[in-house]
Amino acid sequence: MKILVIHGPNLNMLGKREKSIYGSASIETIDKKLKAMARKERAEVDTMQSNYEGKIVETIQKAAGKYDVLIINPAALTHTSVAVRDAILAAEIPAIEVHLSNIYKREEFRHKSFIAPVAVGQVSGFGENSYYLAMRAAIEIARKKR
Ligand code: DQA
Repeated sequence: MKILVIHGPNLNMLGKREKSIYGSASIETIDKKLKAMARKERAEVDTMQSNYEGKIVETIQKAAGKYDVLIINPAALTHTSVAVRDAILAAEIPAIEVHLSNIYKREEFRHKSFIAPVAVGQVSGFGENSYYLAMRAAIEIARKKR
């Protein structure tokens, strides 16, 4: 079972940025916990973060046929990116959308997700636990596929 985790723009600043909204865990801590969770289930996890939309699109393109599930926090690209949405569709990998914050409780411009209609599901509002809940779901999906 192979799972790819993608973190979008500004998530490299986790633990430093707007802590009251995004919490104090760093991206390194979250990635480490995700890998530990996956290891217990004999799944492999690769992680990447980028501040560049094109880099994320390329990573999703290259993931086609190599990964069973994609976990993605598209960050601000959630609300703007037709390109990331199209890449997910083209790759034909089941995707789980993750947000640390509850995007529906926040500014109206965050209520719209271009990704949600092409995702299997969305986890939003549980802080770093959103990622771990998504990993549980990803393992279930990957297991059913294999
Ligand atoms: C976010 C929510 C987005 O609206 C925001 O642009 C982010 C992080 C979240 O994880 O809560 O950068 O995806």
